[in-house]
Amino acid sequence: MRTKHTRKYVAGIDIGSNTVYSIIAFEDENGQVNILGTGATDSRGVKQGIVIDMDDVVNAVICSLEEAEDLAGVETEAVYLTVNGPHIVGVNNSGHYHLDNSHQEVTYRDINQAIHLSNQVPLPDNREIIHTVLRGFAVDGMQGVRNPFGMRADTIEACVHVITASTNPIQNLIKAVQRTGVEIRELVFGALACSQIVTTSEERELGSVVINLGAGTTTITCFQNGFLTYSEILPMGGDDLTERISSQFRLTRDMAEDTKRKFSNVALDHISESEVVSINLNSRSSPTVFNKLEFCRVIKSWGEEVFCSIHKKLEKNHLNKNLNSGVILTGGGALIRGIKDLAAEEFETYVRVGSGHNIIGLDTIIRNPCYATIIGVAKYALDLQNNRGDFLFRRKNRLSQWGDDVVNWFRDLF
Ligand SMILES: Nc1ncnc2c1ncn2[C@@H]1O[C@H](COP(=O)(O)OP(=O)(O)OP(=O)(O)O)[C@@H](O)[C@H]1O
Ligand SMILES: [Mg+2]
Repeated sequence: MRTKHTRKYVAGIDIGSNTVYSIIAFEDENGQVNILGTGATDSRGVKQGIVIDMDDVVNAVICSLEEAEDLAGVETEAVYLTVNGPHIVGVNNSGHYHLDNSHQEVTYRDINQAIHLSNQVPLPDNREIIHTVLRGFAVDGMQGVRNPFGMRADTIEACVHVITASTNPIQNLIKAVQRTGVEIRELVFGALACSQIVTTSEERELGSVVINLGAGTTTITCFQNGFLTYSEILPMGGDDLTERISSQFRLTRDMAEDTKRKFSNVALDHISESEVVSINLNSRSSPTVFNKLEFCRVIKSWGEEVFCSIHKKLEKNHLNKNLNSGVILTGGGALIRGIKDLAAEEFETYVRVGSGHNIIGLDTIIRNPCYATIIGVAKYALDLQNNRGDFLFRRKNRLSQWGDDVVNWFRDLF
């Protein structure tokens, strides 16, 4: 039987192109995130973060959330909802603030002013800011200052990463979830939530890139000196590979998806010329058989294309030289056998597959990279509740509410 909340639970929904994930979690007395329940329902109503079938989204959200609620034994009234899709753009911005001459030392009020200025990004009517994330400060032109409070200075510059999104796709997602009768507490940029949960603070400090290989999208997030410095969402993902398999091997989409999940392997050296893939299309006809090496070459060439285009993006943005901690692969595509070695060849750096860490509860879920984003949402929500994280501003449910409480928040951070 479900119980009403007494603990402080958080609930999240991530409407992916392939799966609607949901989660219910809480933080225990030791500050550990405990996952009580998760849900995963096939999704057909969203493509690359855009709603293409409202009813489908509504039904999948209900189904996914009920699964999580049943497991957790908790009822959900409000959720943190992810946003994703190539319409989301991350830009670096900064706000310069000239200190009053009478000042001897930088005060929290000065910091607050600089932060507010950094958040002023000119936007057309159809775009809005989802998050503004701190990248550090410069004091009198000297970059890399973590906290200028108490320093003597003429100017301080707050450096931020601003994540903006198109309003209509966001509103449609909100509408779909609200139609299920659940309130939306806040929006969360999925790639950001995901990247925080799959990386360690050391990796973010040394420099790392997180690549989430989803069904409709591939997201890239880069960290340098502990801060998020770059984010991009590419309109490519595992669905493209499924379509390629479907047309090349004459399989229905569902069969191609199934075959891909069962047989994909990009470590071609481990496959012999004679190995075959055998699929039973239906019980009446004889199985369809094709060469496994040929099949896996298709997977490998797709993987090479994806990593090559990401590599070009990193080079273009001068980010490839700062990856001391390497690349972390996550999302469903990270389950392809041999994929991390393929990525290591392309990026010429250390690559690992990442999923949630420092989390308690449902072990198999935590280890599965498909759940990285939704687990990240739970962590993000719990961090917000406890005034932690690098998030200076974030979009609230209805109004863009830019906190006047930044000063207090900032003080808590250090
Ligand atoms: N074992 C596997 N082998 C190969 N591919 C897999 C495997 N498991 C999942 N995938 C692929 O991963 C993709 C789904 O990943 P994920 O659940 O992270 O996507 P999503 O969140 O629904 O999509 P998006 O983030 O793009 O909106 C699909 O393309 C699926 O085929
Ligand atoms: Mg996803």
